[in-house]
Amino acid sequence: MKRDFLNISDLNKGEILDLIDYAIYLKKDKYKDQTLKNKSIGMVFMKPSTRTRISFEVGIYQMGGQPIYIQGSSTQMSRGEDIKDTGRVLSRYLDGLVIRTYSHKEVEELAKYFNKPVINALTDYLHPCQILADLQTIYERFGSIEKIKVAFVGDGNNVANTWIIASGLIGFNISVATPKGYEPSKSAVEEGMNLAKNTGGNIHITNDPVEAVKDADVVYTDVWVSMGQENEDEKKNVFKDFSITEDLLSHASKNVIVMHCLPAHKGEEISEDVFERFSDVIFEEAENRLHSQKALMNLLFK
Ligand code: CP
Ligand code: NVA
Repeated sequence: MKRDFLNISDLNKGEILDLIDYAIYLKKDKYKDQTLKNKSIGMVFMKPSTRTRISFEVGIYQMGGQPIYIQGSSTQMSRGEDIKDTGRVLSRYLDGLVIRTYSHKEVEELAKYFNKPVINALTDYLHPCQILADLQTIYERFGSIEKIKVAFVGDGNNVANTWIIASGLIGFNISVATPKGYEPSKSAVEEGMNLAKNTGGNIHITNDPVEAVKDADVVYTDVWVSMGQENEDEKKNVFKDFSITEDLLSHASKNVIVMHCLPAHKGEEISEDVFERFSDVIFEEAENRLHSQKALMNLLFK
Protein backbone atom coordinates (compact mmCIF):
# COMPACT_ATOMS: atom_id res chain seq x y z
CA MET A 1 0.00 0.00 0.00
CA LYS A 2 1.23 3.49 -0.81
CA ARG A 3 2.29 5.78 2.02
CA ASP A 4 1.91 9.55 2.04
CA PHE A 5 3.76 12.10 4.16
CA LEU A 6 1.20 14.84 4.77
CA ASN A 7 1.78 15.18 8.50
CA ILE A 8 4.89 14.49 10.60
CA SER A 9 2.77 11.88 12.43
CA ASP A 10 2.43 9.87 9.21
CA LEU A 11 5.74 8.38 10.40
CA ASN A 12 6.19 6.83 13.82
CA LYS A 13 8.94 7.76 16.24
CA GLY A 14 11.18 4.82 15.32
CA GLU A 15 10.87 5.62 11.62
CA ILE A 16 11.82 9.26 12.23
CA LEU A 17 14.88 8.30 14.27
CA ASP A 18 15.96 5.77 11.59
CA LEU A 19 15.30 8.36 8.88
CA ILE A 20 17.62 10.82 10.66
CA ASP A 21 20.39 8.20 10.88
CA TYR A 22 20.01 7.48 7.19
CA ALA A 23 19.97 11.20 6.30
CA ILE A 24 23.27 11.62 8.17
CA TYR A 25 24.69 8.67 6.22
CA LEU A 26 23.51 10.11 2.86
CA LYS A 27 25.04 13.48 3.77
CA LYS A 28 28.46 11.79 3.40
CA ASP A 29 27.68 9.89 0.20
CA LYS A 30 25.16 11.77 -1.90
CA TYR A 31 24.73 9.35 -4.84
CA LYS A 32 24.66 6.17 -2.69
CA ASP A 33 20.87 5.78 -2.79
CA GLN A 34 19.41 5.17 -6.26
CA THR A 35 15.86 4.34 -5.13
CA LEU A 36 14.35 6.74 -7.68
CA LYS A 37 16.03 5.21 -10.75
CA ASN A 38 13.49 5.20 -13.62
CA LYS A 39 10.99 7.16 -11.52
CA SER A 40 9.42 10.55 -12.33
CA ILE A 41 8.39 12.71 -9.38
CA GLY A 42 6.07 15.68 -9.94
CA MET A 43 6.57 18.80 -7.82
CA VAL A 44 3.48 21.04 -7.79
CA PHE A 45 4.11 24.47 -6.25
CA MET A 46 1.20 26.90 -5.76
CA LYS A 47 3.37 29.11 -3.53
CA PRO A 48 6.95 30.38 -3.90
CA SER A 49 9.88 28.34 -2.60
CA THR A 50 13.68 28.45 -2.58
CA ARG A 51 14.81 25.67 -0.23
CA THR A 52 12.01 23.11 -0.60
CA ARG A 53 11.79 23.23 -4.36
CA ILE A 54 15.54 23.15 -5.02
CA SER A 55 16.39 20.56 -2.35
CA PHE A 56 13.70 18.21 -3.68
CA GLU A 57 14.74 18.77 -7.28
CA VAL A 58 18.43 18.11 -6.51
CA GLY A 59 17.59 15.22 -4.16
CA ILE A 60 15.45 13.44 -6.76
CA TYR A 61 18.25 13.85 -9.31
CA GLN A 62 20.88 12.52 -6.88
CA MET A 63 18.67 9.45 -6.25
CA GLY A 64 18.55 8.68 -9.96
CA GLY A 65 15.04 10.01 -10.62
CA GLN A 66 13.48 12.68 -12.82
CA PRO A 67 12.08 15.73 -10.98
CA ILE A 68 9.31 17.56 -12.84
CA TYR A 69 8.68 21.06 -11.52
CA ILE A 70 5.06 22.05 -12.05
CA GLN A 71 4.21 25.67 -11.33
CA GLY A 72 0.62 25.58 -10.05
CA SER A 73 -0.41 28.64 -12.07
CA SER A 74 0.61 26.86 -15.28
CA THR A 75 -1.78 23.95 -14.73
CA GLN A 76 -5.51 23.60 -15.27
CA MET A 77 -5.89 23.47 -11.46
CA SER A 78 -5.46 27.26 -11.54
CA ARG A 79 -8.51 27.35 -13.86
CA GLY A 80 -10.61 25.23 -11.55
CA GLU A 81 -9.94 21.64 -12.69
CA ASP A 82 -11.03 19.30 -9.90
CA ILE A 83 -8.40 18.13 -7.46
CA LYS A 84 -9.72 14.59 -7.81
CA ASP A 85 -9.47 14.65 -11.61
CA THR A 86 -5.97 16.12 -11.40
CA GLY A 87 -4.97 13.35 -8.98
CA ARG A 88 -6.36 10.63 -11.25
CA VAL A 89 -4.61 12.07 -14.31
CA LEU A 90 -1.25 12.55 -12.61
CA SER A 91 -1.44 8.93 -11.32
CA ARG A 92 -1.17 7.81 -14.95
CA TYR A 93 2.17 9.58 -15.50
CA LEU A 94 4.04 10.03 -12.24
CA ASP A 95 5.56 7.77 -9.57
CA GLY A 96 5.18 10.31 -6.77
CA LEU A 97 4.10 13.83 -6.02
CA VAL A 98 5.48 16.66 -3.90
CA ILE A 99 2.98 19.47 -3.37
CA ARG A 100 3.05 22.93 -1.76
CA THR A 101 -0.27 24.73 -1.60
CA TYR A 102 -2.67 26.62 0.68
CA SER A 103 -5.35 24.23 1.84
CA HIS A 104 -4.32 21.12 3.77
CA LYS A 105 -7.67 19.53 3.01
CA GLU A 106 -6.95 19.82 -0.72
CA VAL A 107 -3.68 17.96 -0.27
CA GLU A 108 -5.53 15.22 1.63
CA GLU A 109 -8.05 15.07 -1.19
CA LEU A 110 -5.32 14.88 -3.82
CA ALA A 111 -3.63 12.08 -1.89
CA LYS A 112 -6.90 10.13 -1.98
CA TYR A 113 -7.02 10.23 -5.76
CA PHE A 114 -3.30 10.04 -6.60
CA ASN A 115 -2.34 6.39 -6.25
CA LYS A 116 1.39 6.82 -5.40
CA PRO A 117 3.06 8.58 -2.45
CA VAL A 118 2.29 12.28 -1.88
CA ILE A 119 4.66 14.49 0.12
CA ASN A 120 3.42 17.70 1.74
CA ALA A 121 5.91 20.44 0.90
CA LEU A 122 3.94 22.98 3.05
CA THR A 123 0.30 23.86 3.52
CA ASP A 124 -1.27 26.62 5.59
CA TYR A 125 -1.60 24.02 8.36
CA LEU A 126 1.66 22.02 8.38
CA HIS A 127 5.25 21.95 7.12
CA PRO A 128 6.44 18.43 8.01
CA CYS A 129 9.51 18.28 5.70
CA GLN A 130 10.90 21.31 7.52
CA ILE A 131 10.62 19.68 10.92
CA LEU A 132 12.34 16.49 9.70
CA ALA A 133 15.39 18.58 8.76
CA ASP A 134 15.17 20.48 12.05
CA LEU A 135 15.10 17.26 14.07
CA GLN A 136 18.14 16.02 12.13
CA THR A 137 19.95 19.29 12.92
CA ILE A 138 19.09 19.01 16.63
CA TYR A 139 20.23 15.38 16.72
CA GLU A 140 23.54 16.31 15.08
CA ARG A 141 24.11 19.11 17.62
CA PHE A 142 22.86 17.47 20.84
CA GLY A 143 23.21 13.71 20.13
CA SER A 144 19.56 13.16 21.13
CA ILE A 145 16.16 14.73 20.63
CA GLU A 146 14.06 13.47 23.53
CA LYS A 147 15.91 15.38 26.23
CA ILE A 148 15.81 18.85 24.73
CA LYS A 149 13.47 21.75 25.32
CA VAL A 150 12.39 23.70 22.23
CA ALA A 151 10.87 27.18 22.50
CA PHE A 152 8.97 28.42 19.47
CA VAL A 153 8.43 32.19 19.59
CA GLY A 154 6.30 34.02 17.02
CA ASP A 155 3.22 33.23 14.96
CA GLY A 156 1.23 30.06 15.70
CA ASN A 157 1.56 29.02 12.06
CA ASN A 158 2.19 25.87 9.97
CA VAL A 159 5.73 25.47 11.36
CA ALA A 160 4.57 25.93 14.98
CA ASN A 161 1.74 23.42 14.45
CA THR A 162 4.16 20.83 13.09
CA TRP A 163 6.59 21.37 16.01
CA ILE A 164 3.78 20.71 18.47
CA ILE A 165 2.80 17.43 16.81
CA ALA A 166 6.49 16.42 16.61
CA SER A 167 6.88 17.06 20.34
CA GLY A 168 4.05 14.67 21.14
CA LEU A 169 5.31 12.11 18.63
CA ILE A 170 8.95 12.04 19.77
CA GLY A 171 8.48 13.04 23.40
CA PHE A 172 10.47 16.26 23.87
CA ASN A 173 9.37 19.43 25.64
CA ILE A 174 8.06 22.37 23.68
CA SER A 175 6.90 25.78 24.78
CA VAL A 176 5.19 27.97 22.19
CA ALA A 177 4.80 31.73 22.77
CA THR A 178 2.56 33.77 20.48
CA PRO A 179 0.62 37.01 20.90
CA LYS A 180 -2.99 36.60 22.01
CA GLY A 181 -5.17 35.61 19.08
CA TYR A 182 -2.26 34.06 17.13
CA GLU A 183 -2.00 30.77 19.02
CA PRO A 184 -1.30 27.53 17.13
CA SER A 185 -4.18 25.54 15.70
CA LYS A 186 -6.37 23.73 18.26
CA SER A 187 -6.28 20.52 16.23
CA ALA A 188 -2.45 20.48 16.19
CA VAL A 189 -2.34 21.02 19.97
CA GLU A 190 -4.92 18.28 20.46
CA GLU A 191 -3.01 15.85 18.25
CA GLY A 192 0.29 16.69 19.96
CA MET A 193 -1.23 16.22 23.44
CA ASN A 194 -2.75 12.88 22.49
CA LEU A 195 0.54 11.61 21.09
CA ALA A 196 2.40 12.91 24.15
CA LYS A 197 0.45 10.52 26.39
CA ASN A 198 2.61 7.69 24.99
CA THR A 199 5.96 9.46 24.81
CA GLY A 200 6.07 11.81 27.79
CA GLY A 201 6.32 14.92 25.61
CA ASN A 202 5.29 18.16 27.22
CA ILE A 203 3.43 20.89 25.29
CA HIS A 204 3.09 24.33 26.83
CA ILE A 205 1.33 27.25 25.11
CA THR A 206 1.78 30.78 26.42
CA ASN A 207 1.59 34.45 25.43
CA ASP A 208 4.83 35.23 27.29
CA PRO A 209 8.06 34.85 25.26
CA VAL A 210 10.30 35.07 28.36
CA GLU A 211 8.41 32.21 30.01
CA ALA A 212 8.69 30.14 26.80
CA VAL A 213 12.45 30.50 26.35
CA LYS A 214 13.28 29.82 30.00
CA ASP A 215 15.99 27.10 30.03
CA ALA A 216 15.33 26.28 26.36
CA ASP A 217 18.06 24.41 24.46
CA VAL A 218 16.63 25.45 21.09
CA VAL A 219 14.91 28.77 20.40
CA TYR A 220 13.08 28.64 17.08
CA THR A 221 11.27 31.26 15.08
CA ASP A 222 9.64 31.85 11.71
CA VAL A 223 8.24 34.82 9.81
CA TRP A 224 5.36 36.74 11.37
CA VAL A 225 3.53 36.94 8.02
CA SER A 226 3.32 33.63 6.17
CA MET A 227 2.77 33.10 2.46
CA GLY A 228 -0.83 33.87 1.61
CA GLN A 229 -1.19 36.38 4.50
CA GLU A 230 0.57 39.28 2.76
CA ASN A 231 -2.41 41.57 3.41
CA GLU A 232 -1.98 41.07 7.17
CA ASP A 233 0.99 43.41 7.48
CA GLU A 234 -0.54 45.13 10.53
CA LYS A 235 0.37 41.95 12.46
CA LYS A 236 3.87 43.33 12.80
CA ASN A 237 2.86 45.76 15.60
CA VAL A 238 1.22 43.01 17.59
CA PHE A 239 4.35 40.85 17.31
CA LYS A 240 6.99 43.38 18.32
CA ASP A 241 7.71 41.70 21.71
CA PHE A 242 8.10 38.30 20.03
CA SER A 243 11.45 38.98 18.38
CA ILE A 244 14.48 36.76 19.11
CA THR A 245 17.02 39.21 20.48
CA GLU A 246 20.11 38.75 22.68
CA ASP A 247 18.02 40.10 25.52
CA LEU A 248 15.37 37.39 25.14
CA LEU A 249 18.08 34.72 24.76
CA SER A 250 19.55 35.65 28.14
CA HIS A 251 16.65 33.66 29.67
CA ALA A 252 17.45 30.47 27.71
CA SER A 253 19.94 27.70 28.55
CA LYS A 254 23.51 28.93 28.31
CA ASN A 255 24.26 26.48 25.47
CA VAL A 256 21.15 27.52 23.54
CA ILE A 257 21.07 27.36 19.75
CA VAL A 258 18.76 29.46 17.60
CA MET A 259 17.06 27.95 14.56
CA HIS A 260 15.01 29.48 11.76
CA CYS A 261 13.34 27.67 8.86
CA LEU A 262 14.03 30.65 6.52
CA PRO A 263 13.36 32.94 4.76
CA ALA A 264 14.16 35.37 7.62
CA HIS A 265 12.95 38.92 8.06
CA LYS A 266 15.79 40.36 10.11
CA GLY A 267 14.71 43.09 12.48
CA GLU A 268 11.29 41.44 12.78
CA GLU A 269 11.15 37.90 14.18
CA ILE A 270 14.95 37.79 14.70
CA SER A 271 17.58 40.46 15.20
CA GLU A 272 20.42 40.62 12.69
CA ASP A 273 23.08 39.99 15.38
CA VAL A 274 21.34 36.87 16.71
CA PHE A 275 20.83 35.61 13.15
CA GLU A 276 24.53 36.03 12.32
CA ARG A 277 25.69 34.48 15.62
CA PHE A 278 23.70 31.34 14.81
CA SER A 279 24.09 31.38 11.03
CA ASP A 280 26.11 28.11 11.07
CA VAL A 281 23.19 26.25 12.64
CA ILE A 282 20.60 28.01 10.47
CA PHE A 283 22.32 27.17 7.18
CA GLU A 284 23.09 23.61 8.32
CA GLU A 285 19.35 23.32 8.96
CA ALA A 286 18.68 24.53 5.40
CA GLU A 287 21.22 22.02 4.02
CA ASN A 288 19.60 19.20 5.99
CA ARG A 289 16.39 19.71 4.02
CA LEU A 290 18.16 17.91 1.17
CA HIS A 291 19.43 14.95 3.21
CA SER A 292 16.32 14.35 5.29
CA GLN A 293 14.00 14.55 2.25
CA LYS A 294 16.19 12.00 0.43
CA ALA A 295 15.89 9.68 3.43
CA LEU A 296 12.12 10.28 3.40
CA MET A 297 11.87 9.43 -0.31
CA ASN A 298 13.85 6.24 0.30
CA LEU A 299 11.28 5.21 2.90
CA LEU A 300 8.22 6.07 0.76
CA PHE A 301 9.49 4.81 -2.62
CA LYS A 302 11.59 1.74 -1.83
N1 CP B 1 11.92 26.76 4.73
C1 CP B 1 11.31 26.66 3.53
O1 CP B 1 10.41 25.84 3.33
O2 CP B 1 11.82 27.48 2.60
P1 CP B 1 11.20 27.72 1.13
O3 CP B 1 9.91 28.46 1.30
O4 CP B 1 12.26 28.56 0.45
O5 CP B 1 11.01 26.41 0.47
N1 NVA C 1 5.33 29.99 7.85
C1 NVA C 1 6.06 30.25 6.64
C2 NVA C 1 7.07 29.17 6.38
C3 NVA C 1 7.93 29.42 5.18
C4 NVA C 1 8.88 28.29 4.94
C5 NVA C 1 5.07 30.36 5.48
O1 NVA C 1 4.13 29.56 5.41
O2 NVA C 1 5.25 31.28 4.65
